[in-house]
Amino acid sequence: MSAHLVCFNRDCRARFGITEVLYNCPKCGGLLEAAYEQPAPDPAQLKHSWRERRLSNAPLCQSGVWRYREMFPFLEDERHAVTLREGNTPLLDAPLAAEYGGLARITFKHQGFNPTGSFKDNGMTCGVAQARRLGMQRVACVSTGNTSASMAAYASAGGLEPLIFIPHGNISYGKLAQALEYGARTFQVEANFDQILALVRVLAERLGIYLLNSINPFRIEGQKSIVIEMMDQRDWRAPDWIVLPGGNLGNTSAFGKGLREMREIGLIDRLPRLAVIQAEGASPFYEYMRAAGRTPFRANEHPETLATAIKIGDPVSWPKAQFEIEQSNGVVERVTEQEIADAKAIIGKSGIGCEPASAATLAGIRKLTAAGAIDGNADVVAVLTGNVLKDPDYIFRYHTGQLKSPSGAAIEPHYGNQPVVVPNDPDRITELIG
Ligand code: F0G
Repeated sequence: MSAHLVCFNRDCRARFGITEVLYNCPKCGGLLEAAYEQPAPDPAQLKHSWRERRLSNAPLCQSGVWRYREMFPFLEDERHAVTLREGNTPLLDAPLAAEYGGLARITFKHQGFNPTGSFKDNGMTCGVAQARRLGMQRVACVSTGNTSASMAAYASAGGLEPLIFIPHGNISYGKLAQALEYGARTFQVEANFDQILALVRVLAERLGIYLLNSINPFRIEGQKSIVIEMMDQRDWRAPDWIVLPGGNLGNTSAFGKGLREMREIGLIDRLPRLAVIQAEGASPFYEYMRAAGRTPFRANEHPETLATAIKIGDPVSWPKAQFEIEQSNGVVERVTEQEIADAKAIIGKSGIGCEPASAATLAGIRKLTAAGAIDGNADVVAVLTGNVLKDPDYIFRYHTGQLKSPSGAAIEPHYGNQPVVVPNDPDRITELIG
């Protein structure tokens, strides 16, 4: 078996060693991806050993990422891996949400059940393993909050020093609080996500710090496990659609790569279609794909959305995401702040809950079924990327009618649930309950 880095640019495809510290191709500037040369694995054997590992008490077998390590065999020594028992996230049925989305049935793959409450843990466990293997001491990222929370936890658990850079005043308190608690040195920069990414790249180069944004190919390898576990849980029946929110587009790239590789090996027999949903005020990928890639990619210099996790105007992974949308015959949609807020309340009322960016999925599904792009009887899995407790401030404002979109327009609490202040009086409370 051999593992290496390959330039994603189809006209270049330059190869580099798996232990080279690279984030872009030194020849053409393209994105990099991990690739492996190994004898074709036997799908039945893989399925069998992955099931067996679920019964094991070994830490890496209990991880919903490392259990599937044959799909990303980049490590030579498994002792470099750090696990907080990431993955193992449920598939949940939600009839109320299905009806709202115009579907007979919907399943949510809830990545908010991860150790730090988001899908980032699937990728971070692999990124931090590679950092340890390379002998790095410090790791860094820019983040809209979840990457930093995850990196802080995994780096600290693995004995590395986490340095995080976040847009000042633009991430939720839940996420900022996690970074502080997990012991990260935290820099709140007076700039937006895209500007800080450029800054962190300069610092990483200058100070020899390992960068753990999703431009890091090992993060992408780990995030493939989200769809691998999803197929395992569905007994290897591919759904018609997988719907996910799009920000920096790392997850879209990871899902597409993971699904294609599963099909190549014969773990699944067809590719689900990917539907990527962006927030209207931060939707450069939607705009680019709507023009069918005929105009150059144009970044949005002033992205705006209350779904701060996906408030990104210049997503680095767009070329990979474009490829995966085309390969899977997928679609890209965008939704308004009101649509996100209402869909989020419905996911909450289903007893499930998620953070704002995750709710873009259901809002997008409602739009796509109404337009006939997704059939009402289709088999649809929507990925909820973050936990409901990531952004409690947003929730309180919505339910009490105080939520305002970035333009200042009021967001109507169509599914609002106001708390009621009552006197300490059983008669009055009985009357109110009715
Ligand atoms: N949903 C949540 C909850 C996120 O935190 C993110 C990204 C996305 C969706 C979008 O995923 O970037 O792979 O397209 N959050 C990053 C961060 C950017 O810094 O935590 P993507």
